[in-house]
Amino acid sequence: MTSPSSRRGFLTAAVTSAAALWTPRRARGFTARELSAHVVDGKLDLGVSKWELDTPALCVDLDKLEQNLAALRTGLAATRVASRPHAKTHKCAAIAKLQLASGSIGICTAKVSEAEALFAEGLTKILMTTANVTRAKIARAMAIAKRNRDFVQAVDHPDNARELSAAAKAAGITADVVVDVAVGTRTGVPAGDQALALAQLVDTLPNLRFRGMLAYDGGAQHIKGYRARSEQALERIQPAAQTYERMKAGGLNVEIFSGGGTGTYDIMTKVPGFTDVQAGSYVFMDTQYLEIGGARDEAVFTDFAPSLTVLTTVVNAYFPGRLTTDAGTKALTLNKPDPIVIGEPGFAYTAGSDEFGVIRYENATKPCKVGDKLELIVPHCDPVVNEYDVVYATRKDRVEAVWPITARGKSQ
Ligand SMILES: Cc1ncc(COP(=O)(O)O)c(C=O)c1O
Repeated sequence: MTSPSSRRGFLTAAVTSAAALWTPRRARGFTARELSAHVVDGKLDLGVSKWELDTPALCVDLDKLEQNLAALRTGLAATRVASRPHAKTHKCAAIAKLQLASGSIGICTAKVSEAEALFAEGLTKILMTTANVTRAKIARAMAIAKRNRDFVQAVDHPDNARELSAAAKAAGITADVVVDVAVGTRTGVPAGDQALALAQLVDTLPNLRFRGMLAYDGGAQHIKGYRARSEQALERIQPAAQTYERMKAGGLNVEIFSGGGTGTYDIMTKVPGFTDVQAGSYVFMDTQYLEIGGARDEAVFTDFAPSLTVLTTVVNAYFPGRLTTDAGTKALTLNKPDPIVIGEPGFAYTAGSDEFGVIRYENATKPCKVGDKLELIVPHCDPVVNEYDVVYATRKDRVEAVWPITARGKSQ
């Protein structure tokens, strides 16, 4: 079994350009508010290094982000499958627009409030992958659909479909709907007869338009090792894939067969009829995804680069063998595996306390003092992003733009 430090060392070596990035120093400490005064046409007209930002600061490396957009596009280019990235990961209108500009056919949202916020910023091609089960949320979804012909809503229960049709009628529209077919037991109608019956019901309800189905397998995304993930994911999707075939054979308009995530983006392409992958994390990556391994490297998933980081400052260096930083649970969440300190595999980072992170020196010797800055790869990108108002878009360490996290905190 590998020890945490050898695992960290391996991952760090595999995914970072190590010490070249590690340039801690005392710095000015710009806030987002100070920088926003210098934004012209969405770009910063000030030569600010990310190391001068006040911390904790959420950063995205634009070279790596663009590399990830291109990797997804080229990874799917030879297939008939498109991408419809899940915006639950970044919650950021600016990034959603870059995804569309790089060829994605639309975006997904998990929450109706997320869809509202992104629609307000001009994003229209939205597939809402969660069924709304309360009357209030159904009404909100139908209010979006009324103003946005490109909005598609998931349903997974006959009662829900009837309520949706009634709400669509009240809004004076016919709403586009996909049936969420379960892979596993989290959400969705069970594959087979129940899913087929629901699709037929949607197709006959007066104010709904059946557009197809989604089948997302959350349990397959982080299966370690490409071969194991591929075999299991393709097996687990079978009941949903057969349901798709039955819908099609029954004459239903299954123009959408959506699903898949970052871990299965190049696996779901083998499912007949599959139309688009909903990968979300690919754009940022995190320590959870780095560990799963890919087709090129069974140990480290290198298809996408870790573009998202959190900058943190050392706030206490009195005690031998340890440091305290300003990035704890509220900056990094409590997810595992722990954050990786870029360029310093001998540092074991724990985000255990609310406001503070703890670094234990394992086999590291690098001295640090109060005020030094470090850069971290986060455990799980989605919930970390939700902790920040803005993300600093950087290129070669220079801050190019300050992007609002448009749907930050939109969890309803
Ligand atoms: C329905 C659905 N689609 C797509 C995704 C994106 O997955 P990932 O971030 O692993 O690419 C998720 C993530 O939880 C999801 O719930």
